Amino acid sequence: MPTLLHIDSSAVAAGSVSREVTAAFRAAWQAEHPEGTVIYRDLAADPVPHLDAHGISAGFAPAAAHSTEQAAAFALRHELMSELERADAVLIGSPMYNFTIPSSLKAWLDQVILVGRTAGEAPSAKGTPVTVVAARGGSYAPGAPREPFEFVTTYLEKVLTGMLGLEVDFIVPEFTLASAVPAMAEFVPNAAESKARALEQAARRAKELAARAAA
Ligand SMILES: Cc1cc2nc3c(=O)[nH]c(=O)nc-3n(C[C@H](O)[C@H](O)[C@H](O)COP(=O)(O)O)c2cc1C
Repeated sequence: MPTLLHIDSSAVAAGSVSREVTAAFRAAWQAEHPEGTVIYRDLAADPVPHLDAHGISAGFAPAAAHSTEQAAAFALRHELMSELERADAVLIGSPMYNFTIPSSLKAWLDQVILVGRTAGEAPSAKGTPVTVVAARGGSYAPGAPREPFEFVTTYLEKVLTGMLGLEVDFIVPEFTLASAVPAMAEFVPNAAESKARALEQAARRAKELAARAAA
C-alpha cells in the first residue's frame, strides 16, 4: 500500500492556509488510497530538535563506534530519513516567515539530509515526488516588487532537488494577509482566487500522484 509523508510547519493551527491546502491534498490522496499509510509530522506541535554536534558526527561514523549521545542523536536522524525513504509521495506545508521557511522545517531538513545516504551521488529517495504548499502573506510572483526577496521556493527547489534528488512541485497561495492588513485591502479578491486555485491544484496533484503510486 502506498505511503504519503505529510509535514506541516505553520506555527498556527486555526486559520493556517498551508494547513488547509495540505489537508485538501491529503484528503484527495487518501480518497484514492483508503488503505494507504500517512506518516504525519506536525513540526509546530512536535518539533524535531536542531541538528547538534552528536548528530553531525554520528552521520560520519559507523554505528558500532557511536557514543551513547551519538547513538541517541542518530536514532532520530535514522527515523526521519526512513520516513522519507518509505514515502511514495511527500507533502510539505511551508509558510513564508521573514522571506524564508520556518526554522522548524529547516531543523527537519538538517536532520534528514545526510551525504552518503539521502544526499550525495545516489540519494536514497531519488525521484520521489514532493509537493510544497508555500503560503505567504504578500506576493513574490515574477514582476512583483518583492520578487527578489523570495527565499522559500528558491531555497526549497535547490535543497529538495539538488541535495535530496526529489521531484519538486510548488503550490503557492499568496496574499493570505490581505483581509487582515488594511493596506492590503485591494488584494482581498486576489487572496480568495489564489486560495481557491491552490485547493484545486492540491486535489488534482494528489490524484495524479496517487495514481502514479498505484501503478
Ligand atoms: C513570523 C512571521 C513572519 C512572516 N513573514 C512574512 C514575510 O516575510 N512575507 C510574507 O509575505 N508574509 C509573511 N508572513 C505571513 C505568512 O507568510 C502568512 O500568514 C502565511 O499565510 C502563513 O502560513 P499559514 O497561513 O499556513 O500559517 C509572516 C508570518 C509570520 C507569523
